[in-house]
Amino acid sequence: MMLAANLVVVVVLAAALCCCCTATATTALVADVAVPARSSNNNNNSNHNITFDVKFHQRMMNYTWSSFCDPAVIMNNTCAFCSDPDFHAVGTLHDSVTEAYGYVGYNAKQGWIILGFRGSSNLDNWLADFDFIKVKYNDTDAKVHAGFFAAWSGVRAAATGHVANILASKCPHCSRIITTGHSLGSAISGLASLDLALEYGNNSKVAVEMHNFGMPRVGDAAFASIFKRAVPYSTRVVHRNDIVPHLPLQGMGFHHVATEVWDQSPQTESPPNAQTYKVCDGSGEDPTCSDSVPILEWHPKDHDYYMGTTNHYCHYDH
Ligand SMILES: *[C@@H]1O[C@H](CO)[C@@H](O)[C@H](O)[C@H]1NC(C)=O
Ligand SMILES: *[C@@H]1O[C@H](CO)[C@@H](O)[C@H](O)[C@H]1NC(C)=O
Ligand SMILES: *[C@@H]1O[C@H](CO)[C@@H](O)[C@H](O)[C@H]1NC(C)=O
Ligand SMILES: *[C@@H]1O[C@H](CO)[C@@H](O)[C@H](O)[C@H]1NC(C)=O
Ligand SMILES: *[C@@H]1O[C@H](CO)[C@@H](O)[C@H](O)[C@H]1NC(C)=O
Ligand SMILES: *[C@@H]1O[C@H](CO)[C@@H](O)[C@H](O)[C@H]1NC(C)=O
Repeated sequence: MMLAANLVVVVVLAAALCCCCTATATTALVADVAVPARSSNNNNNSNHNITFDVKFHQRMMNYTWSSFCDPAVIMNNTCAFCSDPDFHAVGTLHDSVTEAYGYVGYNAKQGWIILGFRGSSNLDNWLADFDFIKVKYNDTDAKVHAGFFAAWSGVRAAATGHVANILASKCPHCSRIITTGHSLGSAISGLASLDLALEYGNNSKVAVEMHNFGMPRVGDAAFASIFKRAVPYSTRVVHRNDIVPHLPLQGMGFHHVATEVWDQSPQTESPPNAQTYKVCDGSGEDPTCSDSVPILEWHPKDHDYYMGTTNHYCHYDH
């Protein structure tokens, strides 16, 4: 999970090289895709009055940290962060090419289907080596980071198969599909939530949400616009000066999905409170939130602390 210090160098160099990049459009583009709109209020900076519930997000954080554990204890619901006694995992996810890891499960009492995705120990390679190449998001005009898209594509069939299976037999009344993740895992979580929203969004019985921690930028402004219409009640927490949410740079044509929650609690294990967090606007790039942090203050260390916790326990590696 620790990011190599040389990531900072890469970023500063990239920023310097990118002085000639064209600025990203601030008005979101409407992509050529039929998106079931879950909200009628898409075309401005409204964040749909999203509320930030610390306790709920701490639960989401535990679902995310669980994804770092040994698949056997995830399946057993006995991992250190497996704090939900009503949770049943139905499968773990792993793509050996992209090193994507996650799991799918459900809580029948809550009516939740959970997809949790873990970060990568070499996120800096991800952000540097893929050269910020973008590929088309399916057959839309939107573009997404090639590496993140490959990572989701590597686990998509297994993940969507588990979701379909849960809805068909294990928890037919489940009504909320929630994706969650940290770092690289949150990029995968974002792509997962959009695919699932496009698949189940016409079914008014199932709503899809994404709740992420330390998420990098995944796609361009057109992608953020599709995302906002399809998965409006989503959050991505940014802890203080965490460097990862600043990458890849906006100047390279990337644009964050909404809605950021910026938590400025100190770099200790203190959870967010009303004095430390701010729910940002629905633009994805609220200039009064983490976008206000100057480049020289971006920091890898804040990336490891979210919701007053860090991943003390599980660091499963193949
Ligand atoms: C967005 O649009 C709604 C409805 O038209 C309006 O009430 C709201 O003030 C607008 N918000 C912003 C930030 O422009
Ligand atoms: C947000 O809250 C305001 C004030 O309560 C309300 O007028 C508006 O309709 C709400 N917007 C949405 C999208 O729920
Ligand atoms: C899973 O739970 C069973 C029953 O509690 C136990 O026997 C087994 O050792 C557990 N496996 C792991 C990998 O924790
Ligand atoms: C998260 O997991 C930790 C470690 O098991 C536990 O102490 C804590 O109560 C859990 N938090 C929530 C909100 O479930
Ligand atoms: C994107 O393409 C993949 C592979 O063809 C497909 O499985 C998936 O459902 C598509 N997603 C959307 C949202 O159309
Ligand atoms: C959802 O509805 C839209 C508009 O009617 C349609 O184009 C799209 O194919 C539907 N998606 C699914 C998965 O049924």
